Amino acid sequence: MRKNIVAGNWKMNKDVIDAQQLMFQILEYKKNNPTNCEVWIAPPSLYLMMAKDLYEKDEVGVFSQDMSEHESGAYTGEISASMLESIEATGSIIGHSERRQYHGETDSHCNRKIKLALDKGLIPIYCNGETLEQRKSGQHLEVVKNQTEVALFTLTADEIKKVVIAYEPVWAIGTGETATPEQAQEIHAHIRNLIAAKYGKEVADEISILYGGSVKPDNAKEIFSQPDIDGGLIGGAALKIEDFAKIIEGFN
Ligand code: G3P
Repeated sequence: MRKNIVAGNWKMNKDVIDAQQLMFQILEYKKNNPTNCEVWIAPPSLYLMMAKDLYEKDEVGVFSQDMSEHESGAYTGEISASMLESIEATGSIIGHSERRQYHGETDSHCNRKIKLALDKGLIPIYCNGETLEQRKSGQHLEVVKNQTEVALFTLTADEIKKVVIAYEPVWAIGTGETATPEQAQEIHAHIRNLIAAKYGKEVADEISILYGGSVKPDNAKEIFSQPDIDGGLIGGAALKIEDFAKIIEGFN
């Protein structure tokens, strides 16, 4: 079901003391402030249990930053959908550009991971987006179309409705070069139209599509006001409660 979501991707930026402190700060904020969006976090995997122990069910969504494309076996360092299900994680980020860049992840990998996540009742946050070169050469619409089709279009209508999509132009991640609200809206509408063409408008209108890439307290409200933008996947600005809170208030 389509909803407003602000999700923080902590990447590898928090050590255990900081992680615990930030989790408490988010809890305090949620207890003292009405929010018009879901609040989700993706801490380093080491701290998923800590988060689940702290938060009442669904008070704050708890996501891993990746998960294995395999169900089980000799895959050193990986975490399976079953393991995430066993700790009642909310879901997993899948296909983040840093996984694609540093670990050679493809949309075919993402497709397998998304299916495994859905089979275990986990919410996949599927990330896609073009590089600067692809945008400069005008390939961005085609690139995002291909990413979306390969990763998502083997799903049934009921399955795809459970996926959250995060459009994250690679050139905006960590750079301070935020996409303009119009640039982001263009791609979000493009993704939604692709899904509508395949599954029908009713299904497409039920999917939350988040924007990620240098969302900050001073630009969140305008970005979130776009018709096909349902929230944000936040990196750097998720690491300080004062910034994360202001972004959440972008929906007020
Ligand atoms: O997954 C979200 C992240 O890639 C965005 O990072 O620092 O540009 O908000 P940042």
